[in-house]
Amino acid sequence: MSYFKSNIDAMTPYVPGFQPGPEAIKLNANENPYPPSPKAWEALAHISDDELRVYPDPTGAVFTAAVAETLGVPQSRVLAGNGSDNVLAAVIHAAGGPIAIPTPTFPYYETLSQVEGAEIIEVPTDENFRVDFDALAEANAAVTFLANPNNPTGVLEPLEAIEALARKLDGLLVVDEAYYDFCGVTALPLVDTCDNVIVTRTLSKGYSLASLRMGFAIAQEPILEALFKAMEIYNVSTTTLLAGARAFVDQDHKNANAAKILATREALAAELTTRGWDVVPSGANFLLAAPPERNAEAVYERLKERGIYVRYFKQPRLADYLRIAVGTDEQTAAVLAAL
Ligand SMILES: Cc1ncc(COP(=O)(O)O)c(C=O)c1O
Repeated sequence: MSYFKSNIDAMTPYVPGFQPGPEAIKLNANENPYPPSPKAWEALAHISDDELRVYPDPTGAVFTAAVAETLGVPQSRVLAGNGSDNVLAAVIHAAGGPIAIPTPTFPYYETLSQVEGAEIIEVPTDENFRVDFDALAEANAAVTFLANPNNPTGVLEPLEAIEALARKLDGLLVVDEAYYDFCGVTALPLVDTCDNVIVTRTLSKGYSLASLRMGFAIAQEPILEALFKAMEIYNVSTTTLLAGARAFVDQDHKNANAAKILATREALAAELTTRGWDVVPSGANFLLAAPPERNAEAVYERLKERGIYVRYFKQPRLADYLRIAVGTDEQTAAVLAAL
């Protein structure tokens, strides 16, 4: 006998990256190794008693205005979320299933679908982790998720294929651009022409604000109205909205950090390749790479013993690989030395 719905009892919980102490080198959750914009701190330092005393603005207007102005989109097409996870959850909550996902991908899509009791259609990627767009179109699900670049593979798919898919689907296409800031490729223009496309972004990666929990969706107004209905009323705190808005307009800070990360990523990829690793080409701030002996789990354990935390997924297709977030040059040198 259980107090809970059968789908909740049956599901396995989402497994986040382990959170070690501050002395560790933490490269297991694709976080940004550099500090956030000082402008975020300025906003935090000036929060007033009244801003803490009253509920936040449910529409998050201070943040959506900053996004609209910076990206040149109408504010009515921006929806603020408590991290992009919050927006992804609202999509499934509002639209239901079936849910199509290319696999392997961000495991949280599956978690959210299971919580909702929605049917999941897994569409395997090919041997190079490239998305099977024809199969996704054929699945024609109520919601199709496409992380671009994908997590945990880093694979970046071309916009032409995404646009063609959007036009074939009868349901929603969520293009999850959590790692947009490291590739500059965006499906945003599709929002103007496709009434079924939702682009999601986050401040957790490019903006070094994973703890703040600030994400957003861009889509046509009728979609955002439906998602808004399915969200908690005061989903994003005033503190997060104010700091997020200030950080978002500081594109120079974000872009400078992204440039450093990309340079480090290229150096790390080159060195691992020289050492015989199989490195999947990445458009994101991490690398999926298989050691030459294909003993990824053992390497993961040995790195952990040395206080270096990368991500290992003990599951089909990924068991030979490690996902290594790109840290600072010093952290990367420590990883290479330990390897
Ligand atoms: C593809 C993808 N989407 C969304 C998220 C979640 O982002 P947020 O911190 O905005 O909830 C992640 C986090 O790792 C991710 O990899």
